[in-house]
Amino acid sequence: MKELFGKLADGTEIHSWSLANGGTRMKVLSYGGIVRSLEIPDRRGHYANVCLGFDNIEDYVSASPYFGALIGRYGNRIGKGEFTLDGKTYRLSVNDGENSLHGGGTMGFDKVVWDIEPFTKGPDVGLYLHHTSVDGEMGYPGTLKTKVTYTLTQHGDWRVDYEATTDKATVVNLTSHVYWNLAGEGSGTIENHELKIAASRYTPVDPGLIPTGEPAPVADTPFDFRRSKAIGENLRETHQQLLYAKGIDHNWVLDKGISPKPEWIATLKDPSSGRTLRMATTEPGLQFYSGNFLDGTLVGPSGRIYRQGDALCLETQHFPDSPNQPSFPSTVLRPGQTYRSTTVHSFSR
Ligand code: GLA
Repeated sequence: MKELFGKLADGTEIHSWSLANGGTRMKVLSYGGIVRSLEIPDRRGHYANVCLGFDNIEDYVSASPYFGALIGRYGNRIGKGEFTLDGKTYRLSVNDGENSLHGGGTMGFDKVVWDIEPFTKGPDVGLYLHHTSVDGEMGYPGTLKTKVTYTLTQHGDWRVDYEATTDKATVVNLTSHVYWNLAGEGSGTIENHELKIAASRYTPVDPGLIPTGEPAPVADTPFDFRRSKAIGENLRETHQQLLYAKGIDHNWVLDKGISPKPEWIATLKDPSSGRTLRMATTEPGLQFYSGNFLDGTLVGPSGRIYRQGDALCLETQHFPDSPNQPSFPSTVLRPGQTYRSTTVHSFSR
């Protein structure tokens, strides 16, 4: 089902698509492929929207810190907004100090209008989202044809499949930037949520949040989530990495590495409601961001303001700055190849 959500300044109509299956309900915008609402039941069957967002298009256009959006062409940062591929240096749109963040500037995939087509496949329902990014857009080489599939399965899982092809060698790293609060959007801090991540190492960063290049063990650091623990447990320790990011904003090196099929990598649980999110992915990395830049200036559909730590993001991805880090798994895509990535979100209570 589709309805008009609003219009961009140039008159372009933005639609909101509604899907429901297996006990999960979601709403998706053609703008940015944004998941503007995802409703799941708690242990008593009460539904809540567990994703931060806005109730109007104007806030999404002018103020959104990537709420619910698709991220491309490159999730997270590319240092100094440049990289060299096959001997040629490409300069990207710089939008985060001297770095390029989440595809850069005005035409990141979170800010483009996607072509959306609904589908039903056996017991599953979903949306195909298409976008073609022209050669040179935001500085990236190659015409990148992207197809993202959002599926709501009969079990209420939300599955995201990404595909992309190019006509020139380029780099690609697509992800989704949902801000989770399993107690419900606008209900306060996520510091009591419990998180487990199947990773023994993470990638420490410099003060600009660019990886230094050497993965470090999580053992004996606040970054150890190998056993489930409350997110707030070590968040205020005076660890240099926490100071750089004002909390957690780091990439975990998933123990399973790149996998041909999605494998379980993380579980997030809100003990108060019982709502639980399990994530599986084909990707080698997970960016866990503890909502550090939410500063009480944005108001959600609940009518409540969002403060620091009122949500967290779990972005499956290749590692930040890979185009400049020869030791990281490659993000290069060449003509004739197809970029593929899958992440599955399963909900229980
Ligand atoms: C990512 C980045 C963060 C921040 C958020 C959005 O998680 O790593 O630094 O930009 O997106 O604000």
